[in-house]
Amino acid sequence: MLMKLLFTFFYISLFLIPAFASKPEAEALLKWKTSLMNQNNPLLSSWSLDPTSNLTWTNRTTDTAPCTWYGVHCNDHWVVTKLNLSVSRLNGTLANFTFSSFTSLTHLELRQNDVFGSIPGEIRHLSKLVFLDLSGNRFSGTIPQEIGMLMHLETLSLPSNNLEGHIPISLGDLSKLGYLRVDDNKLSGSIPQELEILDNLVKVNMSFNFLTGYIPSGLGNLSKLSELHLFLNNLTGSIPPSLGNLSSLRILYLYMNQLSGQIPDELGNMKDLVQLLLGHNQLMGSIPASLGNLSKLEILDVHENILSGVIPQELGKLDSLVQLSFSHNELSGQIPVSIGNLSKLEQLFLNDNQFNGSIPKELGNLNSLVALILLINRLSGPIPDSLGNLRKLEQVVLHDNKLSDEDDSFFNGFPWESVVMGYGFGMLIGLGIGWLVFYLGQPRWFIRITVLAS
Ligand SMILES: *[C@@H]1O[C@H](CO)[C@@H](O)[C@H](O)[C@H]1NC(C)=O
Ligand SMILES: *[C@@H]1O[C@H](CO)[C@@H](O)[C@H](O)[C@H]1NC(C)=O
Ligand SMILES: *[C@@H]1O[C@H](CO)[C@@H](O)[C@H](O)[C@H]1NC(C)=O
Ligand SMILES: *[C@@H]1O[C@H](CO)[C@@H](O)[C@H](O)[C@H]1NC(C)=O
Ligand SMILES: *[C@@H]1O[C@H](CO)[C@@H](O)[C@H](O)[C@H]1NC(C)=O
Ligand SMILES: *[C@@H]1O[C@H](CO)[C@@H](O)[C@H](O)[C@H]1NC(C)=O
Ligand SMILES: *[C@@H]1O[C@H](CO)[C@@H](O)[C@H](O)[C@H]1NC(C)=O
Ligand SMILES: *[C@@H]1O[C@H](CO)[C@@H](O)[C@H](O)[C@H]1NC(C)=O
Ligand SMILES: *[C@@H]1O[C@H](CO)[C@@H](O)[C@H](O)[C@H]1NC(C)=O
Ligand SMILES: *[C@@H]1O[C@H](CO)[C@@H](O)[C@H](O)[C@H]1NC(C)=O
Ligand SMILES: *[C@@H]1O[C@H](CO)[C@@H](O)[C@H](O)[C@H]1NC(C)=O
Ligand SMILES: *[C@@H]1O[C@H](CO)[C@@H](O)[C@H](O)[C@H]1NC(C)=O
Repeated sequence: MLMKLLFTFFYISLFLIPAFASKPEAEALLKWKTSLMNQNNPLLSSWSLDPTSNLTWTNRTTDTAPCTWYGVHCNDHWVVTKLNLSVSRLNGTLANFTFSSFTSLTHLELRQNDVFGSIPGEIRHLSKLVFLDLSGNRFSGTIPQEIGMLMHLETLSLPSNNLEGHIPISLGDLSKLGYLRVDDNKLSGSIPQELEILDNLVKVNMSFNFLTGYIPSGLGNLSKLSELHLFLNNLTGSIPPSLGNLSSLRILYLYMNQLSGQIPDELGNMKDLVQLLLGHNQLMGSIPASLGNLSKLEILDVHENILSGVIPQELGKLDSLVQLSFSHNELSGQIPVSIGNLSKLEQLFLNDNQFNGSIPKELGNLNSLVALILLINRLSGPIPDSLGNLRKLEQVVLHDNKLSDEDDSFFNGFPWESVVMGYGFGMLIGLGIGWLVFYLGQPRWFIRITVLAS
């Protein structure tokens, strides 16, 4: 009887004092707190097992610790499942963080602190982890290959640290991964081919590192991929045509690498593409006419490459286009009349190419145009009157062409000073030797004030 009573008592107390189970977690957090440089961080004042230490926290007892502590979240069984210590002025390392005490953790968020040192391989103990965000700290060393053991991981966010070394191929084991950010670090080596099988990936950002090698062609198999940011690296080789299979892709940023070869025709198949930025590479050959099929495209920027040939007239079908930049290439021929169909276009940069012929009068249909930059080409003939209708136009740069203004007797024989004095309605900023930039308050005066270089 007594035994039974004792047993029942023991049994009941197991339920009444559930916090017993979380004590190791509390002690692990306190041990870590003690290892931080700024232990007196007021944000962590609730992290204490001393009931008298914070009298305002009246309902806190050691029994509920650490579930009532700042940034700590528990499940119904008083087991810690989330640690959110973002923007909490943490200053220290993870060396004394006992990962093995948090086997039920699903979220670990340490964004925007001052945590330094390496990411310990012991992180493998967080086997239920779904969400890991260590961004904006000072983590150094390599990304531990043990991260590949976190089978449930859906978000891995490590940007803006000092991580170096290769991207571990073990990331290819994270079959549920949807969101991968390792940008703004010092990572080197190539993009692991192993990532090709992560068909849940939605966003990938590896930009602003020192990555080399080819873009793996198998990335074209990632059917859910919506954003691929690989800019500011040292990637070489050509753009894989397989990327054209990314039918969900909205953003493709490959600028500032050392990519060569042609722009694949297949990119014209990416029906959802909104932004295509390929500038600052060594791409050559012509601009594929297929790009004219990208009906959602808002930004097409291929500046600073060695592209040649003509602008395909099919680009006049890009109804959504807001910004078109072809500057600093070797493009030639005439500016296609169909460009005048781009009713949403705000910025047209065609400078530093070899365009010839006249400026199409149809550009006067570009009612949204704010900037028209055509300097350093071989354009000839008059500046079309129709441009004077463009009410939003603020910046027009045309110097270093072969434009004539013979039709406009207003200009003949006027030195620049007279033009400015005589037509001072517009606000004119920047009068340099050999080139001019105009900001026009009164678009109608545009045709009177714009001309060629001296
Ligand atoms: C981490 O814990 C060890 C003992 O486990 C201790 O020697 C060391 O000083 C601690 N590091 C910090 C930064 O507190
Ligand atoms: C007591 O803890 C609460 C909750 O963390 C905190 O808001 C409050 O500032 C603390 N008070 C003192 C005096 O540390
Ligand atoms: C402690 O008190 C606060 C404020 O009264 C309340 O929101 C919170 O739920 C309480 N926590 C527990 C574990 O009882
Ligand atoms: C974590 O905390 C930050 C800042 O307090 C907040 O913005 C963010 O939404 C939180 N994250 C989660 C998953 O609750
Ligand atoms: C972190 O702590 C160290 C040592 O106390 C100190 O030198 C450093 O300035 C601190 N960093 C920040 C951002 O507070
Ligand atoms: C990608 O990385 C760059 C560089 O760190 C950053 O500026 C940009 O905001 C990131 N974009 C996304 C969508 O992650
Ligand atoms: C790219 O590689 C060149 C030499 O191959 C090097 O000079 C340059 O710093 C590298 N740039 C980046 C961003 O890694
Ligand atoms: C893409 O997937 C297909 C079928 O799922 C497969 O046959 C092909 O090898 C994959 N391509 C790459 C480059 O991995
Ligand atoms: C695109 O995918 C199809 C099948 O899904 C495949 O047959 C084709 O080879 C892929 N195209 C490229 C360029 O990889
Ligand atoms: C554009 O798409 C149409 C229909 O989807 C297709 O017939 C045509 O070949 C494509 N144009 C180019 C230049 O790829
Ligand atoms: C586009 O421009 C061309 C040439 O100006 C014209 O023939 C064509 O009808 C225009 N298409 C659309 C859809 O406006
Ligand atoms: C423009 O240049 C091309 C060669 O690039 C030439 O065939 C064509 O006749 C030129 N057109 C004009 C109007 O100068």
